[in-house]
Amino acid sequence: MEVIILPNLDQAALLTARIVDKELRARPELVLGMATGRTMERVYADLVEMHCQEGLNFSHCRTFNLDEYIGLPADHPNSYRRYMQEKLFDHVNIDPACTHLPNGVATNLAWECRSYEALIQAAGGIDLQLLGIGASGHIGFNEPISALASRTREKALTPSTREQNAGMFGGDAEQVPPRAITMGVGTILEAKRCILVATGSAKADIVAKAVEGPITSMVTASALQLHPNCQVILDEDAAAELQGKGYYRWIFHNELEWQEFQHLQAPGARWAER
Ligand code: GLP
Repeated sequence: MEVIILPNLDQAALLTARIVDKELRARPELVLGMATGRTMERVYADLVEMHCQEGLNFSHCRTFNLDEYIGLPADHPNSYRRYMQEKLFDHVNIDPACTHLPNGVATNLAWECRSYEALIQAAGGIDLQLLGIGASGHIGFNEPISALASRTREKALTPSTREQNAGMFGGDAEQVPPRAITMGVGTILEAKRCILVATGSAKADIVAKAVEGPITSMVTASALQLHPNCQVILDEDAAAELQGKGYYRWIFHNELEWQEFQHLQAPGARWAER
């Protein structure tokens, strides 16, 4: 695991988008794992800019989202399908047939989960998986005590997750569907590369547990410590409770692969700077 600490959300999102940009240019048929949530909105806005201004080409890539609420049809204003259309897919040259999310209104949800796994396998697996982290420590919707070997399945959401996500449902946690389909922790760990992005002081405690705490199903993001190619990209606020900040900064300064991104440590760095 590598931990990269940048001044604020702008830089954290920009580095994430630049990594996607670099991987997509190197391998246009990249299989991307997508996440939702407020943090990712900024990443997707930067990717849209890179598509419009720099010709970043999505026409050969395929995407698989982590999760979808059960009971929300694709065109529901709060579905993750709708989120992805509005934040990214409608604004770039991606083939709609190559974008995948679990179907939250499938009549046979167990079959839907199995076929989602099969689709990922058929695509050759996920090359680059983007992740956020919930207040409960979840990745995808893998709530506490999710098996670390779990696969795509139905999952009940914790009250804290429904509270956290209530903002998109008029502030009313009761409106947040109580269940979702999510890739499992085991599914996520099979991605060739994982990038977890977290910003803001509300994430500081759970980020410290995920990065420096024990690997535990109580904080499913901690399973990323097992992943051989995982970067955790944070702003200063989300990094506030980490013990090893000085060491992580030293690595970022000294690892050759990060040299081209050093300028992102300047608070004013913008998406157009390379
Ligand atoms: C939802 C998603 C998670 C995501 C989380 C973070 O719960 N299912 O995959 O990590 O939101 O959300 P935010 O970025 O809004 O804090």
